Amino acid sequence: MLFALLGFTQKFPGLALTPPMGWNSWNYFACDVSEDLIKEAADAMVSSGMKDAGYVYINIDDCWHGERDSLGFIHPDPEHFPSGMKALADYVHSKGLKLGIYSDAGWTTCAGRPGSRGHEYQDAMQYAKWGIDYLKYDWCDTEGLKAEGAYLTIRDALYAAGRPIVLSICEWGNDDPWLWAKDIGHLWRTTGDIYHCFDCVIDHGTWNQWGVLQILDQRDNDLLRQSAGPGHWNDPDMMEVGNGMSVSEDRTHFSMWCMLAAPLIAGNDIRDMTPEVKEILTNREAIAIDQDSLGIQGFRYDVRDSVEIWFKPLSEGDWAMCLMNRTTTPKNIEFNWDEEKVVDDYFDYEAQFDKITYKLRNVWTHKDVGSTTEKLGEVLPGHDVLMLRLTPVR
Ligand code: GLA
Repeated sequence: MLFALLGFTQKFPGLALTPPMGWNSWNYFACDVSEDLIKEAADAMVSSGMKDAGYVYINIDDCWHGERDSLGFIHPDPEHFPSGMKALADYVHSKGLKLGIYSDAGWTTCAGRPGSRGHEYQDAMQYAKWGIDYLKYDWCDTEGLKAEGAYLTIRDALYAAGRPIVLSICEWGNDDPWLWAKDIGHLWRTTGDIYHCFDCVIDHGTWNQWGVLQILDQRDNDLLRQSAGPGHWNDPDMMEVGNGMSVSEDRTHFSMWCMLAAPLIAGNDIRDMTPEVKEILTNREAIAIDQDSLGIQGFRYDVRDSVEIWFKPLSEGDWAMCLMNRTTTPKNIEFNWDEEKVVDDYFDYEAQFDKITYKLRNVWTHKDVGSTTEKLGEVLPGHDVLMLRLTPVR
């Protein structure tokens, strides 16, 4: 607070040192949110094992809002949040979890609720008083605003309010946030909204929703990854695991988000999950790849016959490797380690298959599957992945 009064402001340091993990109401529930739902989601995060697997944030998206009072302070919708936000935050905290909320830089949110424009410092104070830990800040109804400046304002407002709150920037990558958001927010959306399909575009006329492949293809990953690291992440949107794709598509979606060091924010009804969905969301070996302390976003090494080959440098000389079949046809994959040279030019890592033997661990079958001394040969089913962790044999 003192620093803020002296005019020294920054984003809250020490937050999101690994990509944030949690749940958000929007993808499945949209505007149908209430304090009961949020409490049940918190309960489910604990009972499902998601909390033990590393998930922390319970995030309320759009539509929690009621009206501003005569002094301009925002209040939750009294019908759906009768106990108020402070009581809800206390409940979520009592489960060892953190509470996130949602607002918008414009006059109104994307669903037409009150936005924060002109009320930034007041809203930040209110969130801090309630005990909020995470703010997703959207970009609807922002006529005349410049994204960088608007997000700087809310960053400073949060800092002045004095409570460490993760700032999730959501302007859909429109203004290239990877070029300016590193010191402003802890994560920034890179695309428009996701949809629960593997390979489709949903055309809403003035805007589109994107399938998993469309999100992966939309930006220059080699450029974006240069801006990612502890405390500042590219956000390819909240997950659609459990919302209608096949098990292999869900597994592929989750694997690729881990390869991208993406925030892992579940977007399904976690109160009611199939065993397969729960297993995907709580796969600790996959999560460890996402959450690796180096915080390096993976890169596409090659595409061969519609199979993408991704690598991600990990701490202590390990690597993650993910082969993804973009098609619905099974593909024969071969990878002759001796003939490959995997180099991360930007972060300066090299997998020296000619000098070092790596043992291979299949992240989805949880089995050790040999080493780089033998050529890799497998059949990869449609829309599926082979995800491996490579560890040097010492
Ligand atoms: C935008 C965001 C979504 C969601 C909705 C809520 O579309 O990108 O993630 O927050 O608004 O209205």
